[in-house]
Amino acid sequence: MTHTITIIPGDGIGQEVIPATVRVLESLGLPLTIQCADAGFRTFEQTGQALPTETLGLCEGSDAVLFGATQSPVTKVEGYSSPILTLRRRFNLFANLRPAIKDNIDLLIVRENTEGLYSRRERVEDGGQTAIAERVITARASERIVHAACEQAVQRRRKLTIVHKANVLKETCGLFRRVALEVTAQYPTLAVDEVLVDTAAMLLVQNPARFDVIVTTNLFGDILSDLAAGVTGGLGIAPSANIGTGRPAVFEPVHGSAPDIAGQGIADPRAAILSAAMMLDWLGYSEIAATLTRITYTTPHSDDTNDTTDAIIRQLQQVASHAH
Ligand code: IPM
Ligand code: MN
Repeated sequence: MTHTITIIPGDGIGQEVIPATVRVLESLGLPLTIQCADAGFRTFEQTGQALPTETLGLCEGSDAVLFGATQSPVTKVEGYSSPILTLRRRFNLFANLRPAIKDNIDLLIVRENTEGLYSRRERVEDGGQTAIAERVITARASERIVHAACEQAVQRRRKLTIVHKANVLKETCGLFRRVALEVTAQYPTLAVDEVLVDTAAMLLVQNPARFDVIVTTNLFGDILSDLAAGVTGGLGIAPSANIGTGRPAVFEPVHGSAPDIAGQGIADPRAAILSAAMMLDWLGYSEIAATLTRITYTTPHSDDTNDTTDAIIRQLQQVASHAH
C-alpha cells in the first residue's frame, strides 16, 4: 500500500525546510507518493487565492499533508485568510499536538484547534473605537480535545494538566474546565491536575519538567507552545500535528515563514523533519518515525539547511546498514 502525501512549502523558509524534509523522506525508501501544491501569501498575490481550489483538492485526496509556513499579514488584507487555519477548519483537525522535548523535559501540549478566540467572530463597533472578539467554547469541542489528551497521557503513562483561566473567564473557561474534569474522571488511573494559564507560563520557565501532557484552549495552546519551544531549544526543533477523525491530517513546524532569514539557506530544517516524523508515526511507520525523531533531536543545526539535512540522512543510512 502506498500513502499519498501533499507537501505545501508555502512562503519564506517553508520553501527551504520542506524540500529538505522531502529529501529525508525520499532517502527512507518508503512507499510514499509525494505531490507538491501551492498556498500562501505569494500564491495569493499571483492567483487571488491563498489556498487555491486545486491545492484543497490535492489535500482531500491525500493521507497526510506536510505544510511549511505561510506569511500572514498583521493587518487585514481583503480576500486573504491564513491557509493553515482554513485547512484546520476544512478537515476538522480539532487536535493540535505539540511536543517539546529536551533533557529531562518531555512535554506534549494538546491544543484545541477549532474554536476559542480563533472562531473568526471579530467585529468593530463605535465607528472603529471598540473592537470585539467572541471566544466560543463548546462542550462538544472541549470533550473531544480532552479525550484526545487523556488518550495521549494514558499511552505515555504520564500526568495530564488542564490549563485554563476559569477564575476570570467564568463562562468560557468555566465550561472548558467543567467538561475537562468530567472527561478525565472517566480515566480513573490517570493522574490529573489543573493550573491557571498565567501560572502555567511561569512554571514552564521555572520547572518545565513538572509537566507531562497539557490540554488547553486554542489561543492559550498557541502561546504556551511557543513558550515551551523557547525553553526546549527554540522554534527550530518544534514540530506539530493537526489531527481530526479521518484523513488527511496536517503536519507543520510550529515556526513561521521567517522572512528575515528566508532565501539564505540557513533555516533549521529540524522542526519540519520532526513534523514529518510525526506524520510517519501517524501513518503507521512507528519504528522509522522513532529513529528519525531520535536522530533529528541529536543532530545539531550547522546553520546550513542542506548540511544539517545531509547529516540526518547520513545517520539514517548508518542505522539502516546496521540493521541489515
Ligand atoms: C501556529 C501559528 C498559527 C496559529 C498562525 C500562523 C495562524 O501561529 O500554528 O501556531 O496561530 O495557530
Ligand atoms: Mn503559533
